[in-house]
Amino acid sequence: MSSTLPVPVRPPLPHALSGTTAVLIGGSSGIGLAAGVLLRSVGARVVLVGRDRDRLQAAVSQVRRASPAGDTDDAVLGVPGDGGDERTLAEVFDRAGQVDHVFVTAGGLSGVGPVTGLSAGDIRATFDSRLGAAFAAARAAATRLSPGGSLTFSSGILVVRPLPGMSAPLSVAGAVETLTKALAVELAPARLRVNAVRFGQIDTPLLRSRSGLDSDDAIAAAGSTVPLGRIGTAEEAAASALFLMANNYITGQVITVDGGATLT
Ligand SMILES: NC(=O)c1ccc[n+]([C@@H]2O[C@H](COP(=O)([O-])OP(=O)(O)OC[C@H]3O[C@@H](n4cnc5c(N)ncnc54)[C@H](OP(=O)(O)O)[C@@H]3O)[C@@H](O)[C@H]2O)c1
Repeated sequence: MSSTLPVPVRPPLPHALSGTTAVLIGGSSGIGLAAGVLLRSVGARVVLVGRDRDRLQAAVSQVRRASPAGDTDDAVLGVPGDGGDERTLAEVFDRAGQVDHVFVTAGGLSGVGPVTGLSAGDIRATFDSRLGAAFAAARAAATRLSPGGSLTFSSGILVVRPLPGMSAPLSVAGAVETLTKALAVELAPARLRVNAVRFGQIDTPLLRSRSGLDSDDAIAAAGSTVPLGRIGTAEEAAASALFLMANNYITGQVITVDGGATLT
């Protein structure tokens, strides 16, 4: 898997992603779906992965509507399944053909609660599902991406601003950030790049599913405490992943998109 050639040079702007193929694991909602729309609008082929078939189909239709004029519908594919399942990932890569970029946004909150209230099984299940899924994506990407390709993981600012009751999910998120750096070194000889985005509060179905954040007023109130005065949009969050995909000279980095929340 190593190369004697350096990583290819290409223009580091999102429009250079035109003609590439991106797999979005967790692409049927929120940040992953917004990434699909942005990628398609710059002419990339997009493969969306999610478990709920109806939600996935609706997302495929939404991303197709972002296609540049004259492009075909074949440029957007939905593959239903669990992104942590190696057989699902094998099917995704088989159906996608050549893949250049993978963005992992699959996830939600599990294993929440005070450490004394968590069973060993709860903790193991959180690690198995979230960290196991990151490793599964990495194992698939490492063997299937082309040189200059990238893998981008998701994390969150609670890693550096922890809240009580979040020990299990935040341990996983921290491990994903460490995995990002470890894989960046390990996969650099194959000219593959690995990065992560640490998100602040982003207006998605996941955020709105949290108690007290299920209305526009509540989202606006939560945003008023952020230095930039509001919650981020899914598009703003997704654009950071496109930046990392497009720039062939960035690897092993965790970039923060949080409206300045971690500065205060
Ligand atoms: N929004 C925020 O404020 C925020 C802040 C910090 C970090 N994050 C992180 O950013 C990532 C994206 O969040 P989001 O807000 O965009 O969430 P979201 O709107 O809930 O979208 C998550 C997507 O992942 C899919 N998914 C979940 N588990 C999956 C699995 N095992 N296999 C395949 N697909 C799966 C979901 O579809 P199905 O359920 O149908 O599979 C959905 O399409 C998450 O990792 C989240 O923890 C978000």
